[in-house]
Amino acid sequence: MNTATGPASGAATPILRVAGLSARIAGQQVVEDVSFSVPATGITALLGRNGVGKTSTIKAIIGLIDRSGVVELGGERIDKEATYKIIKRGVGYVPEDREVFSKLTVAENLRLAERDAAPRRQLVEELFPDLLARSGQMAGTLSGGQQQMVSLARALLNTNKVLLVDEPTKGLAPRIVGEVAETLAEAARTVPILLVEQNLHVVRQLAGGAVVLSGGRVVHTGPARDFLDDAALIHRHLGVSTDAAAPGDPVRRGAAQ
Ligand SMILES: Nc1ncnc2c1ncn2[C@@H]1O[C@H](COP(=O)(O)OP(=O)(O)O)[C@@H](O)[C@H]1O
Ligand SMILES: [Mg+2]
Repeated sequence: MNTATGPASGAATPILRVAGLSARIAGQQVVEDVSFSVPATGITALLGRNGVGKTSTIKAIIGLIDRSGVVELGGERIDKEATYKIIKRGVGYVPEDREVFSKLTVAENLRLAERDAAPRRQLVEELFPDLLARSGQMAGTLSGGQQQMVSLARALLNTNKVLLVDEPTKGLAPRIVGEVAETLAEAARTVPILLVEQNLHVVRQLAGGAVVLSGGRVVHTGPARDFLDDAALIHRHLGVSTDAAAPGDPVRRGAAQ
């Protein structure tokens, strides 16, 4: 029922393995000797303050920025390949700013994203009934949360080995944050996800593992719960107080309301 299961015995091969990944933007080192693995099931959170290199790490993985180091997808090297080939191999990317085609309808946005011969339209219709009802609406007239759903739906239409999802709840109202989180939880039943997320309630709700960056480097890896329960670690690496990680109402850290 789930295609993302690993070998029957022993430690499963990670779906994504990054080792010694480095990248520069405009001469500045933005990713430095980054190593971590994404298990073949569930959600792994990529955490860190603004500007530490989370987005750059994702872009380096798929070759959108020049990089060095090893990136393996299901045990196969992909770090010398062009972005389009990496995407075709089954890496779904949901970018930070959603990037829907605002002058196209919802249906047109989705059709443009279909890569496989048999796109998973039924799964998308089940996960996003609201989008189905709005299929003729211009994507630019949707709310931020609805645009985020379009962006997620585009990635889920294709059969991917892993999804890289960058700050899907950024700037959304708390109620919509919850809806996006539920959708991600549903999506993760069919595909493993590397998730950049600033909302620690969402991280607590969704993530199994956590990778924490600071200054372009990995400063912590381990179970997400262990990190979220450690006030000193959170304060040191994210600069927030512990109640931001406790169960309860979402706390928007420095985000526009
Ligand atoms: N297009 C760019 N031009 C110059 N510097 C950039 C660009 N994109 C990102 N950076 C710099 O790279 C660093 C990492 O940025 P980014 O990966 O976007 O961080 P994060 O996603 O963790 O907020 C920051 O110092 C940022 O200013
Ligand atoms: Mg970012």
